Amino acid sequence: MNKWFYFNLLLLAAGIWQITEHSRFPAHVIFGAAGLLLFLFNWTRHAVFSTIRNTPNRQTKIKLANLSKKIVPYHRWIGTTTLIIILIHASLTINLFGFAWHNVKLLSGLIAGILLIAMVVSGWMRLFRSTGRKRMIHIWLGISLFIFISIHIGL
Ligand code: HEM
Ligand code: HEM
Repeated sequence: MNKWFYFNLLLLAAGIWQITEHSRFPAHVIFGAAGLLLFLFNWTRHAVFSTIRNTPNRQTKIKLANLSKKIVPYHRWIGTTTLIIILIHASLTINLFGFAWHNVKLLSGLIAGILLIAMVVSGWMRLFRSTGRKRMIHIWLGISLFIFISIHIGL
């Protein structure tokens, strides 16, 4: 399996761990968790594409390519919904705790939120006029987003 499958599983496990650390499940945590799941669903596309490119097994290539084709129409809406859910998560959290620059959890979330906005914008730009450069931007934003979400969940 591609290394990204393991990275994704690790972040999912860390997310579930952090969520269960909360003794109650208030709305801001539920929205954060939903955003994490939807992000991981879309990001797994990277693991699938990397596997298609790297596997020597033709059968696996065909199976994954067909699966990927079925998901394509949902990808853009899942990505856009992730952003809406995370914006709700952010406003609920700021309402609850207030805004403080020294709150590292909030700061890491804020950077992840900004990257997510860029991710969704680059996705729509890519859909309307795809170029190799836009593809790389979409992927590198995804990798940065993955790193900042890991920091946000890990803190
Ligand atoms: C892709 C973006 C994001 C994801 C996937 C995400 C996910 C999560 C999850 C699952 C939690 C609950 C588990 C935990 O306490 O660690 C959480 C908590 C938190 N998030 Fe986010 N978040 C994102 C963006 C943001 C943004 C934009 C902000 C604020 C502007 C933010 C602020 C916070 C804060 C302050 C907490 C701690 C809440 C508490 O201790 O009760 N997050 N986030
Ligand atoms: C959470 C947000 C998102 C994530 C994590 C994400 C991730 C990805 C990944 C990993 C790929 C495959 C990269 C490759 O070409 O190797 C991809 C492709 C693509 N994404 Fe996104 N994306 C997100 C949101 C969006 C949105 C909102 C759109 C809007 C239209 C979009 C449009 C596209 C398009 C057109 C492709 C190439 C076509 C294809 O899927 O084969 N993405 N995305």
